[in-house]
Amino acid sequence: MRFRHEFIEKNAILLLVLTLLTVSIGGIVEIAPLFTIETTIEKVKGVRPYSPLELEGRDIYIREGCYVCHSQMIRSLRDEVERYGHYSIAAESMYDHPFQWGSKRIGPDLARVGGKYSNDWHYQHLTNAQSVVPESLMPHYAFLQKARVRTNLTVLKMKALRTVGVPYTDDDLKNAVADEYAQADPNATTTDLLKRYPKANMVPGDGRGPTEMDALVSYLQVLGTMVNFADTSEEQLQQ
Ligand code: HEC
Repeated sequence: MRFRHEFIEKNAILLLVLTLLTVSIGGIVEIAPLFTIETTIEKVKGVRPYSPLELEGRDIYIREGCYVCHSQMIRSLRDEVERYGHYSIAAESMYDHPFQWGSKRIGPDLARVGGKYSNDWHYQHLTNAQSVVPESLMPHYAFLQKARVRTNLTVLKMKALRTVGVPYTDDDLKNAVADEYAQADPNATTTDLLKRYPKANMVPGDGRGPTEMDALVSYLQVLGTMVNFADTSEEQLQQ
């Protein structure tokens, strides 16, 4: 045995071939089973795709580069959990394409900012951050209130997301524009919207179509609010 091993070690090509063979067997054993399952993330109760308005808000978040200063990933470290709330779990970003975990925190983590402040606070803060937090470094985004969301594009975005596994139904697509208007209209009936997107946060638009600011605030207000951690099993939290 020892002699044969010495023979292999002294023969570079043979050693290379046998090494590759061993590594590929190991690789196949680890990787192949993953092809048979749809996702490695277990679904957690409460996690749903974004409502059309939240989805547009998310795109504005990305367009404006908010991720340059904000992360959305609470690590399971004591100081983070005490400051921001329950650590982030995989299922919470399973419908995010691309995810917004971020890599820099010039401002605070936003993974659970939903519900922390009122809508009014967010409008004021985004318009002029220093008017509510004097020492803030955050730029002003007042212009978002002047631009309307291009609602005719939303359904295309939802369709694109559907191709990568976000479970929007035909019904969701059909009602996308109506839902988008309703979420930013204080006089709208929102029963259907809330049935499709539970816990969606209504924002106080003017009823003439959502502004980019409305969309962004609706997105910020849903962050981290979908999962009720009191009734989520320990097993799901380990993911
Ligand atoms: C130059 C860095 C920078 C950019 C870019 C930035 N922020 Fe901030 N943000 C901050 C800082 C610093 C704070 C903390 C002070 C404050 O509350 O204003 C903050 C605070 C916040 C808060 C309050 C968080 C909390 O828990 O108190 C929200 C919400 C927020 N930012 C949203 C946004 C959004 C949305 C965008 C993009 C439109 C954005 N930020 C872009 C730096 C930034």
